[in-house]
Amino acid sequence: MLHSNLSVNEMGHLTLCGADTVTLAEKYGTPLYLLDEDRIREKCRTYHRAMKTYFTPDSRPLYASKALSFRGIYRLAKEEGMAVDVVSPGELYNALSAGMDAADICFHGNAKTVADIRYAMDNGIGLFAADNAVELERISAYAVEKGVTQRVLLRITPGIDPHTFDAVNTGKVDSKFGSAIATGQAEEIFCYARSLANIEVAGFHCHIGSQIFDEKPFCDAADLMLTFMVSLRDKYGYTAEILNLGGGIGVRYTEADPYIDIDDTLRLVGAHMHAICEETGYPMPQILMEPGRSLVADAGVTLYEVQNVKTITGYKSYAAIDGGMTDNPRYALYQSRYTVVNASRASDDADFTCTVAGRCCESGDLIGENLTVARPEVGEYLAVLVTGAYNYAMSSNYNCITKPPIVMIADGKDKLAVRRETFADMTACQM
Ligand code: LLP
Repeated sequence: MLHSNLSVNEMGHLTLCGADTVTLAEKYGTPLYLLDEDRIREKCRTYHRAMKTYFTPDSRPLYASKALSFRGIYRLAKEEGMAVDVVSPGELYNALSAGMDAADICFHGNAKTVADIRYAMDNGIGLFAADNAVELERISAYAVEKGVTQRVLLRITPGIDPHTFDAVNTGKVDSKFGSAIATGQAEEIFCYARSLANIEVAGFHCHIGSQIFDEKPFCDAADLMLTFMVSLRDKYGYTAEILNLGGGIGVRYTEADPYIDIDDTLRLVGAHMHAICEETGYPMPQILMEPGRSLVADAGVTLYEVQNVKTITGYKSYAAIDGGMTDNPRYALYQSRYTVVNASRASDDADFTCTVAGRCCESGDLIGENLTVARPEVGEYLAVLVTGAYNYAMSSNYNCITKPPIVMIADGKDKLAVRRETFADMTACQM
């Protein structure tokens, strides 16, 4: 199957890390998000090991929690010694409420409000990835008021196009994020940050995009960033302690997607950086990386119950499910391709071509088109594979549809990590 944690048991049911998905659908109801916890831990360890080995002993991964944010995943991240990246005070609250240490958190975002900054600093945030001059002024002003020094990374756009699709392409010169090296604005913001009271520039950050399948764009970004850092050293005598290379390693959603090995990629990027540092005499900085998708995506499977199958004579067939764009908006937003399996009959031939349609009153509410599955019967379960990243995190209550629960599977045991949202939860803020 697509990933090694997926298989089919003797009943012909799809299994995730050995657990029978049909049994779990019956136990918890559908729609249902499943997560293979062991898989996530294994990925955290791979990143840790590779970063320490190929970069520097103090290099470490930060979990980009925008990919999937709930208390249980922050607890897991903490247990695995991960630092965390958050992009909003809500994610920060979530991480702190799970017991994460604020010193291990980096706060991102291109439009942080005064309230966001105060909230983060009141909780002792370790790092800001500072995007712009206004933000730096706000941080500086509050640091002066509190009598503290705040460490920041400056977000830089190296100007790399990693050939990924536009909506998740963040490292190009005209990006809404950060300051570009090419326009001279990266140098300007560096000088400005250094002129501000109570700000310590610990280093730099870049993130070139998401769903990237080869090491070249990461090497190119590292190259541009190090060259920029060397120029600042030569001009201003400043040596950066940290270089954060962001996230972006890709994940296979379908058999057509390539495979990228995390360890191999980091080995090649590390070798490339060591060579540049040696050549320029720049001390290899502590490297941070922010994987999101590559840590959690292939740990996830979403289960739905088939409500009806409709064939429009001479045109196409639809399999309608009890969820859709409210729990997985990625096809509606990006036309992202998924692999769908009839979990109830996973060993049968996938010989039925259909569009899997969600339950929202909106024709664009689809999980995918031209998908091939074993012809589903009403009441059978469809599994959408590789849904651990940017699914629950991007879910909504459109059409007043409540959010599914998350069940984590570890050591062959399933446990509820997020309970199913009730109508009362959904309407709790309404006066
Ligand atoms: N760091 C920064 C600053 C980021 O902006 C992102 C993702 C990451 C790390 C993590 O990247 P990853 O390792 O997950 O590729 N909603 C879109 C993905 C948006 C990614 C935005 N930034 C999707 O569903 O494909």
